[in-house]
Amino acid sequence: MTATASGLEGVVVADTELSDVDGAAGRLVIAGRDVESLAGAATFEDVFSRLVYAGKRAVSLGEARRRAWQLLPSLGDALRASDGMDALRASIARVVDGEPEEIAGAMATFAAAWSRTRDGRPPVAPDPALGHAADCLRMIRGEAAPSSLVRALDAYLVTVADHGMNASTFVARVIASTGSDMTSSVTGAIGALKGPLHGGAPGPVLDMLDAIGAPERAEAWIRAEIAAGRRIMGMGHRIYRVRDPRAAVLEREIQKLEGAGVGGGRLALARAVEKAAERVLAERHPERPLRANVEFYTAVLLEAVGLPRAAFSPTFAVSRVAGWCAHVVEQRRVGRLIRPSSRYVGAPGADGRGRLSDSP
Ligand code: COA
Repeated sequence: MTATASGLEGVVVADTELSDVDGAAGRLVIAGRDVESLAGAATFEDVFSRLVYAGKRAVSLGEARRRAWQLLPSLGDALRASDGMDALRASIARVVDGEPEEIAGAMATFAAAWSRTRDGRPPVAPDPALGHAADCLRMIRGEAAPSSLVRALDAYLVTVADHGMNASTFVARVIASTGSDMTSSVTGAIGALKGPLHGGAPGPVLDMLDAIGAPERAEAWIRAEIAAGRRIMGMGHRIYRVRDPRAAVLEREIQKLEGAGVGGGRLALARAVEKAAERVLAERHPERPLRANVEFYTAVLLEAVGLPRAAFSPTFAVSRVAGWCAHVVEQRRVGRLIRPSSRYVGAPGADGRGRLSDSP
């Protein structure tokens, strides 16, 4: 009998041209470029084009943001949900024309409108002439953002656009493999991204930095959390056995911001907490390197560009929708249903002959 592949760790379920994660070397290639050279050099729209259209079509998401804005009155209560991912799941489900750009434009417009509504402020209409990062920031903040912040957000959107067979991407591909539509794939993926073990970590990372408050308190705080059986958010990764390369990319962007006198000045605290967490987790799990993942510095960067922490996970979705759509397109080319097996460990059948999966 085949052993159960718990968590599907190490199971290869697709060939992909979209991104490659080398967990031992700490290397990430997105659409043929190392993430370190892509972030800061390419815009989100460039990366969207590379992923979804192999770079063969110029992508502009402004008109799609504008069309999504026109859908707002028909969304009813969808954007009134208290959780941003619930709001995105309900509102993206209403995008009937499931073209990749439509969904990506809608993700940004809806995420911003939700964030404003939650804060008791009126949503801000998109400006189709702006780049995606600039308009995302503008729609959330209610005013144009300085170019340094726009560049930092763009670098973030590029950095997290795709990442191998992560849980939400797998969900998108499973749904696509049934012949279902793009909207359904992305809606399902949003549900997977929402979980704290996947895309829901950056808000809690900031809560942790708030709770710790000063570098010298980091170690004791972390020890207490571990002793209470809780996980340290922003640490550990299923694939990486070294530091997540995206953490370094985002750290670099935050450093640039702080160097320019912008941002919350959190970097020193974040670095101290990361070091303390590494130390404590290494003692606890000497067999398993648990280092910072992308979410750790996502929290610091998104705070520095002025986003409210409730909008962190929705902003992750604003980026990752590129990968989801690209994987759906790729899965359609494969054209085969994804349908794994399970091992029955329940009660034997009524005839008492034991479990079917025990049979030779
Ligand atoms: N804090 C404390 N302990 C951790 C940990 C963390 N962040 N991440 C893993 N561990 C521990 C687990 O408790 C487990 O120990 P145990 O066997 O004594 O219970 C061991 O390390 C192995 O963990 P496992 O659950 O097998 O790892 P995984 O590959 O399934 O999980 C994550 C990977 C990302 C889900 C996990 O590291 C985690 O929960 N991180 C915090 C959430 C987070 O930052 N998510 C964003 C990911 S990008």
